[in-house]
Amino acid sequence: MKNIVVLVSGGGTNLQALINAEKSGIIKNGKITCVISSNPEAYALERAKNNGIDTDVIRRRDYKEFSDYDKALTALLRSKNADLIVLAGFMTILGKEVISAFENRIINIHPALIPSFCGEGFYGLKVHEKALEKGVKVTGATAHFVTEECDGGPIIIQKAVDIKNGDTPEILQKRVMEEAEWKILPRAVSLFCEDKIKVIGNKTEIL
Ligand code: GAR
Repeated sequence: MKNIVVLVSGGGTNLQALINAEKSGIIKNGKITCVISSNPEAYALERAKNNGIDTDVIRRRDYKEFSDYDKALTALLRSKNADLIVLAGFMTILGKEVISAFENRIINIHPALIPSFCGEGFYGLKVHEKALEKGVKVTGATAHFVTEECDGGPIIIQKAVDIKNGDTPEILQKRVMEEAEWKILPRAVSLFCEDKIKVIGNKTEIL
C-alpha cells in the first residue's frame, strides 16, 4: 500500500475527489496519509480533518531563502514517508531539492490541455481566462509528473472539455473540474499506486 501525501492551498475539491475515490475503491493500493497546506486557512484542511487525515502546514513566507523552504518541505515529506506526492491546487512552485528527492513521484493536476495555457503565471482561474480570451473551442485538464520545467513533465492522462457559448472563467473552471480534473486525477493516482505508469524520457506509457 503506497502512502499518498496531498499538497493543497485552497478549496480542495481535487483533494475531495481523491478522498471519495479512495473510499469507493477507485484508488487501488494507495492511501491518503497526510494533507499539507501552504495556507493555514485553506478549506482543504477541513476536508482532511473531516476524514481523519493527518494535516500539516508549511508556508513559503516563513523562510527567508527559497532554498531553506525547499529543504524544509523535502524533510517534511520524508518524515511523512511519502511514496507519492499529489499537487492538488498547490500554488507554491516546488524547488530543485524536493523535485529531485521525489523524481517521478510527484503528480500535478493542471486545468488545461498542456502544452496550452501552462507554465509560470498560469494557475487557477487565470488559465480559464486565457483560454476564453484566445477563443479556443476545446480545453481540458492534464495530470502529469512534476519536473523542474514548470508544467513540462511527462503527461499521464489528459481529458478534453468543450467550451460553450456564454462561458465565463468561473463557469468553465467548474465544468473542467467536474468533467476532467476530478476524474483523471484519481485515475492517475491509482495507476501510479498500481505501478502501471512507465516513464520513458519525457513521456509515459500506461501499462
Ligand atoms: C484546480 O483547478 C487545479 O487544477 C488548479 O487549481 C484549482 C484548485 O482547486 N491548479 C493549478 O492551476 C496549478 N497550476 P481545488 O483546490 O478545488 O482542487
